[in-house]
Amino acid sequence: MPDFGPPTKAERIAVIPGDGIGIEVTREAVKVLETLKRVCGLPLELVALDWGAERYLKDGVTLPPDALEMFRSEFRAILIGALGDPRVPSNVHAADILLGIRAGLDLYVNYRPARLLDARLCPLKDRRSEDVNFHIFRENTEGAYAGLGGVFKPGTPDEVAVQEDVNTRKGVERILIHAFEFARRRGLKRIVMSDKSNAMPYAHGLWQRAFAEVRAHYADIESRHLFVDALAMELVRDPSQFQVIVTNNLFGDILSDLASQLAGGIGLAPSANLHPGRVSMFEPVHGSAPALAGKNLANPLGAILAASLMLDFLGHSDAARRVELAVERAVRENAATSDLGGAFSTSEVGDWICERL
Ligand code: IPM
Ligand code: MN
Repeated sequence: MPDFGPPTKAERIAVIPGDGIGIEVTREAVKVLETLKRVCGLPLELVALDWGAERYLKDGVTLPPDALEMFRSEFRAILIGALGDPRVPSNVHAADILLGIRAGLDLYVNYRPARLLDARLCPLKDRRSEDVNFHIFRENTEGAYAGLGGVFKPGTPDEVAVQEDVNTRKGVERILIHAFEFARRRGLKRIVMSDKSNAMPYAHGLWQRAFAEVRAHYADIESRHLFVDALAMELVRDPSQFQVIVTNNLFGDILSDLASQLAGGIGLAPSANLHPGRVSMFEPVHGSAPALAGKNLANPLGAILAASLMLDFLGHSDAARRVELAVERAVRENAATSDLGGAFSTSEVGDWICERL
């Protein structure tokens, strides 16, 4: 658990609904948090921020220049919906805000659990719900996302484009240690590190060396390595073999989408962008889904589970568990949106959850 010292005042949470369905699903997550404030007396103060496409189109602001300092000094956590809007084809606002916060606050852990809540939602045949229950730890500040690169002779037949895969000893080591520590804390016995060191010996050779050193300190945990192509195959063939997966930024991005489908769909998947002990950010894995936006049809459970991860991070583990249990019930009883085979609207799912709290 992070140590922020004794809580002296309400914990301030920044809420960034963002674009598209981000706005609708965040509204439901906020409803859940407001309900918990009422029924459990959680000391939360939610502060809405209007950053996203609309704001960018209005005054050109993406991530305001003082944003990072404001988060560090005034907030405990950030809850974000989704970013992306067809009116901003470059997606510059999304990159500035989302990737800007991840890198700027040094949120080096992207935690994405994949747990199948109801066997009927798994696209693989004959799986039980306990067959899909693993935790992905995605490095969240470097790799292919470091932004190091450029284009040469753009728009000509000789055009060259380069984007480096940046891996630092410190960056790799700390995500590996975080994943091993998580496994130990949760009593999990198996961890897989995944890279592509057979094709990228420089960039991913570093992962191999750091892994060899870190795993030596965790003799109680069975650790192994899989190249990312083999891991993708094994995840589909037999997901029950996995408990903890740790990998780089890009592979973690791809694998967590795959994992979300194994666990019932991307509408259910939450994630946490963490720097233990510091202000951290929580979001559903899904995007802004412009085609679905404004129809009150999007699944809010990913955002609600992201709020639950946030509560857990803040030390409100009982409240977090309550939310989780209510979501599990909603899925099992089909109090759900159409992506899960239900007939509920976005806001009806939120109301249903709040009534159970
Ligand atoms: C995610 C998203 C982002 C990422 C995009 C929007 C830049 O896909 O959070 O998984 O690639 O990290
Ligand atoms: Mn993604």
